[in-house]
Amino acid sequence: MRRIAVLTSGGDSSGMNACVRAVVRKALSENLEVVGIQKGYQGLIDRQYQIMSSRSVSGILQRGGTVLHSARCKAMMDEAGQKLAAENLQGLGVEGLIVIGGEGSLKGAQSLHRKGIPAIGIPASIDNDIPFTDMSLGVDTALNNIIYAVDCLKDTASSHSRAFVVECMGRNCGYLTTAAAVACGAEFAIIPEAPFSVDEICECLKSRYREGRDNALILVAEGAARAQNIADQIKDKIGFETRLMVLGHYQRGGSPSVFDRLLGARFGVKAVEGLLQGQSGSMVGLACGGVCCTPLEQVFQSGSRPIDEVILKLAKTLVI
Ligand code: F6P
Repeated sequence: MRRIAVLTSGGDSSGMNACVRAVVRKALSENLEVVGIQKGYQGLIDRQYQIMSSRSVSGILQRGGTVLHSARCKAMMDEAGQKLAAENLQGLGVEGLIVIGGEGSLKGAQSLHRKGIPAIGIPASIDNDIPFTDMSLGVDTALNNIIYAVDCLKDTASSHSRAFVVECMGRNCGYLTTAAAVACGAEFAIIPEAPFSVDEICECLKSRYREGRDNALILVAEGAARAQNIADQIKDKIGFETRLMVLGHYQRGGSPSVFDRLLGARFGVKAVEGLLQGQSGSMVGLACGGVCCTPLEQVFQSGSRPIDEVILKLAKTLVI
């Protein structure tokens, strides 16, 4: 093997740069050339790439986002796009591809593997919805972002005796919301994986206020409900002064946490090692503290990652 390629795809997540850096530096140390594809699969189809040197990944470790840029690429979802992507890689003399991204991006890696391009996926998505890895790259930083914002809101909520409803991104997965609710001591967490009743929340709020606790934090996963709607209902049903915050893409940015920097480094090195060992069609992942590899077929067979039972149990005890 002489030349590999790396790309970041789909929603960016903090730690992607640490991972790209690890891929490039590990590959160079193994005397491989590395092609950095720009803008994910779109750049692969449009032939936007650069040869990566050790220098090209200097000073990026601590930066959020991705220096390779990213995109959501519709063309990669159909046969013609996948064929063109595979042909472009072959034209570049690429003998192995590393894809850093979420579920859709990993599916792209699987399709290229099926077209004979050795490909390994690295799970990177703030949603933590990818099975066969305890954590995806960027989840820890996103959690830290949420907690920073919610802690700030808590100060003003308690000063003004208000309830705050905070909408957390995370697609259809309630992991971020649940973990954040436990970590910041929220009163309620509304997630797609569990039924909820706004009436019950209102009753609890009323009894809390009777006990003298006059502020509350309600975290809402974007896949469960619209925070605006929950805030309106609370106001209409019990007349509490309620404010709203939608965290949105703020969650995805910022300097990666130590955890994500280390995870990016470990995933990146493992993926290069995998290609050198002749692996393809697999995904690296974190399992019980170690980095493992799972066939992508198995990853997708099992559907989305079920919510972490440990965190859910904690939330059921500590959050309503
Ligand atoms: O999958 C990552 C994610 O940030 C989700 O949490 C969110 O629903 C979605 O991407 C937003 O997508 P976009 O960046 O295309 O608006």
